[in-house]
Amino acid sequence: MRIGTLGAGTVAQAIARHAIRHGHEVVLSNSRGPGFLAALVRDLGAGATAATPAEAAAADLVVLAVGWPQVPEVAAQLPPLDGTIVIDATNQFASPPPDARIAELGDLTGSEYVASLLPGARVVKAFNALFAQFIAPDPRHEAGRQVLFLAGDDTDAKNTVVALTAQFGFAPVDLGTLREGGRLIQLGGPLSGLHALKQD
Ligand SMILES: NC(=O)c1ccc[n+]([C@@H]2O[C@H](COP(=O)([O-])OP(=O)(O)OC[C@H]3O[C@@H](n4cnc5c(N)ncnc54)[C@H](OP(=O)(O)O)[C@@H]3O)[C@@H](O)[C@H]2O)c1
Repeated sequence: MRIGTLGAGTVAQAIARHAIRHGHEVVLSNSRGPGFLAALVRDLGAGATAATPAEAAAADLVVLAVGWPQVPEVAAQLPPLDGTIVIDATNQFASPPPDARIAELGDLTGSEYVASLLPGARVVKAFNALFAQFIAPDPRHEAGRQVLFLAGDDTDAKNTVVALTAQFGFAPVDLGTLREGGRLIQLGGPLSGLHALKQD
């Protein structure tokens, strides 16, 4: 699979390493331009390239991993995402820790808001509820596989994300729609930051 990342920071890099380890291609993008990603691309090795966000968004599957305040500007740079699966790894920090403030979205969950900015995309919320230090390592531990909660409105898109993340070694757990499941795993939800292992 060709996987594009919007953002090339901690979370995007952790996911990129899993993807490359399992034979996928990764196209990374950031705000400062592909030139700033040359060293990272070299470090990731064969299978990794850098491009603009619009080019990264042309991949089979796209990972959105930018800070919350940057989501609208990233979305505005993208071509129409006609059916593209977008893994939304963001957390709606209006301001980051230590003075964390959760963005006020009215009735919408964070990923419903993200989906509203990405018409045509099939958004699956995943990875956001795990701290990066639980995303980066091999998710297969002696006591079980790292649980990866996900939510989305499109069953096929979720099945693709389930298959991909299970290939990485995670134990994906589908929580339902962006509204119901998304509420459980978004900031302030009962499963946000819950790091669980699943025995096979
Ligand atoms: N860190 C965690 O433990 C963790 C865990 C789960 C979820 N999350 C969530 O995942 C998201 C990313 O977190 P992170 O820790 O990976 O952040 P990060 O390390 O600060 O990386 C953010 C990335 O976004 C890029 N970016 C900013 N504006 C952009 C734009 N307009 N177009 C394209 N790329 C842009 C930055 O590129 P430049 O450097 O070039 O500006 C950078 O590569 C956040 O929403 C966070 O809440 C974080």
